[in-house]
Amino acid sequence: MHNSDKLDFTLHAATQSDVLTIAALGMQVFMDTYATEGVREAIAREALESFAPETLSLLIKRPDTVFLLAEASQHLVGFAQICLQTDHALIGDQHAAELQRLYVQERFTGRGVGGQLLQRAEREASGRDASRLWATVWVGNPRALLFYPRQGYENAGSPVHRLQAETHENVLFCKPLKP
Ligand SMILES: CC(C)(COP(=O)(O)OP(=O)(O)OC[C@H]1O[C@@H](n2cnc3c(N)ncnc32)[C@H](O)[C@@H]1OP(=O)(O)O)[C@@H](O)C(=O)NCCC(=O)NCCS
Repeated sequence: MHNSDKLDFTLHAATQSDVLTIAALGMQVFMDTYATEGVREAIAREALESFAPETLSLLIKRPDTVFLLAEASQHLVGFAQICLQTDHALIGDQHAAELQRLYVQERFTGRGVGGQLLQRAEREASGRDASRLWATVWVGNPRALLFYPRQGYENAGSPVHRLQAETHENVLFCKPLKP
């Protein structure tokens, strides 16, 4: 499949029946994105903990969490995870919402899935009274560092991200949402 092929996909909210596909895709994209030097224990532990089906099942149940899925031909190709009312010291707004994950399977990138998921995430957050949406991006993720500014996000600072016992420099991107 070539990335220039037209892709028909639909967006919808996740249910408990989506836990396994989110877990598998989440782990794959996480490893592709963050295990850039191979696999070390901190990366393996983070992936196995974060994308354990039981962890995701609990997250999907949370009233402050929204999972949006992108599906093509009844297969999961990407997802967005938002947590409402999540402030950050660099923002200072109790009505801010965090885009905790925006993951597109590698072979489906560059075809509008990430952009569409992000726009839907913004609408969902705004519809639930979020005033802005923010996301942190690892400095070693150049594609995402370019993606968010093109989607109207501004650099709001450089927080440190904890991954198990490690710390990593990130960039915080933020965008005000239309009511
Ligand atoms: C960052 C990420 C979410 C972007 O998702 P994506 O699906 O590739 O995003 P899009 O396809 O909507 O946009 C990417 C580019 O493709 C272009 N594009 C969009 N639709 C297109 C189409 N139909 N044909 C060709 N190009 C297209 C966009 O204009 C955009 O170009 P630009 O960056 O120069 O503006 C994705 O690369 C990803 O999941 N990466 C791994 C995980 C990650 O890093 N997540 C972010 C941090 S949590």
